[in-house]
Amino acid sequence: EAWLTTVLTAYAEGHRESGFMEPLAAPLGDAAISGIAARYAGMSATWQGSPLPFGDPERGRELAAQGSEHDDIASCASCHEGAGADGLAPKRPDTPRIAGQDGYWIYNWLKMYRDGPVPSSPRAHLMEAAAKPLSDEDIADLAAWYAARQDG
Ligand code: HEC
Repeated sequence: EAWLTTVLTAYAEGHRESGFMEPLAAPLGDAAISGIAARYAGMSATWQGSPLPFGDPERGRELAAQGSEHDDIASCASCHEGAGADGLAPKRPDTPRIAGQDGYWIYNWLKMYRDGPVPSSPRAHLMEAAAKPLSDEDIADLAAWYAARQDG
């Protein structure tokens, strides 16, 4: 819920670029944004994102867990995992859950944080720093791994 509030506010205030979402979010006030965030956060259906038809999920698993000291890559899991019953939820509520999301969605967001336009929401610089050292191969492997992670 905190994450949905953060992103909707970022679209409404022009801190996140999207031709679709900015005009939709702009007229929403704080109360409407809270209501929408609560509604979607309260839904219990399991999201079945599609797997990526490329990328090496096994290499992605290692990179996500340990990062790479050699390539200055931080562990994704240190921010995006570690909480919730299955350990796949982020510890901070304003950090998004990545596990089980759609493969292309993860792939595209990693490219966006690396190549721009980077959102100007309050904590986007953390993700910009995390994405900077990633190669195209790293991005494909990480997206393949996280997309394949459903509950458990
Ligand atoms: C220091 C903490 C931190 C680390 C390390 C980190 N992230 Fe993030 N990540 C964040 C935060 C915070 C956001 C939300 C940024 C924003 O507000 O725009 C985010 C956003 C994302 C998003 C986009 C979600 C969305 O809806 O916009 C993806 C995908 C992602 N991270 C994947 C990864 C992967 C893969 C790694 C490992 C290479 C990683 N992150 C490392 C904190 C981190």
